[in-house]
Amino acid sequence: MSQSNPFTPTFGTAPPVLAGRADVIGRVSMAMDSGPRHPDYTLVVTGRRGTGKTVLLDVIARSAAEKGWLVLQVAGSDRPDLAANVMQRAHELVRPASWAAPALGFSPEATGSPDGLPDRPVPLPERGDLRSTLTALADQASANGVGVLLTVDELQASAANALRPLASILQHVTRREERPLMFVGCGLPDVARTLLSDPGMTFFHRCARAETSRLTDDEVRFALGEPFTAAGVPVVGAALDAGIAAAVGYPFMIQHIGYAAWERVDGLASTGVSAADMAAAIDVADLAMTQQLVEPVWVGLSAKDREFAIAIATLGGVAEVRELAVRLGWSANTVNAYRRRAIDAGIAVAAGRGRLRFAHQAFERHARSEHALADHDHDATSQSGA
Ligand SMILES: Nc1ncnc2c1ncn2[C@@H]1O[C@H](COP(=O)(O)OP(=O)(O)OP(=O)(O)O)[C@@H](O)[C@H]1O
Ligand SMILES: [Mg+2]
Repeated sequence: MSQSNPFTPTFGTAPPVLAGRADVIGRVSMAMDSGPRHPDYTLVVTGRRGTGKTVLLDVIARSAAEKGWLVLQVAGSDRPDLAANVMQRAHELVRPASWAAPALGFSPEATGSPDGLPDRPVPLPERGDLRSTLTALADQASANGVGVLLTVDELQASAANALRPLASILQHVTRREERPLMFVGCGLPDVARTLLSDPGMTFFHRCARAETSRLTDDEVRFALGEPFTAAGVPVVGAALDAGIAAAVGYPFMIQHIGYAAWERVDGLASTGVSAADMAAAIDVADLAMTQQLVEPVWVGLSAKDREFAIAIATLGGVAEVRELAVRLGWSANTVNAYRRRAIDAGIAVAAGRGRLRFAHQAFERHARSEHALADHDHDATSQSGA
């Protein structure tokens, strides 16, 4: 097979085909067309690691740019800080081609490019602070029948001090003055309860919410199968089914499984992907999931969070709150608090009333191996102490 591997087993890279997410993309598009009073004009999207938040933000940003909007994209993890980065992006903006009339106070002759391409900057107040800069941008966009989209990825990585000024600006410019400055932010599930519940964060707290939830099996079938179909590579039905089952709706897993399967059939396009190829690809993807997703999450857990996860594993991977309380000897309140924390950390998902299961088998395997390790250490200690 000479064609290069279309799958994208890296964070933040646009997949060969985007599965699902039509609902949130539709909501954002409606909001863009409706204006600042639309509830989804200010939106916070939460989702577990590797579920496609960055990719979603990029899709939204691209569709805004296609509508002729001004787009500012920053991330909470970027340094030096959020406000400085938004300001920097504002200064890098180029006048959209669709802006026929030169913006107010702007002389096209002075800075227009010789080849007539619309790569002239959008004029900004000379010594403006962030609020006056964003206000000027929104006004110019509005005069041209569009708006400004600000996206902030990785909200959880931003310090509260850095987010507060942005909250206050958005509250004034978008909410009170109803200027077309749209906001879409993304973060891990617990931002809503931690960072955004801070008293200075009322703006974010009141934003509409969406989730990059687990993809359905049909969506996974499309994301995993379509790139092979498009390349004319057959995938055995049972192999595709096995891949779908192993992905458990995780975009990150889909890309890793697809990538590894594609690598295996390299040069054997005529025979396509067999069940054995897929099984081997799933092993490779499982390892990536453990190393890149499970271990980083596990490292961030407290001792009690780990104890909780191990208890779910020892109960077979699916557990009732009641059973967990008995197993751990904790009160129902404590179990419920840790249930919430496990869900927010992306380890577990609710499985019906009062039930909980691992979000992916890689978490369960990891919890089991940690448990075995703890037992081993315990045995070793008691033997050496004897
Ligand atoms: N809708 C989708 N369909 C298919 N693949 C997707 C989709 N969304 C994301 N992916 C793929 O999943 C992987 C993870 O996506 P992304 O980096 O956007 O996740 P994330 O939620 O931002 O993760 P993190 O929280 O770690 O930043 C990437 O390989 C990406 O190509
Ligand atoms: Mg991301």
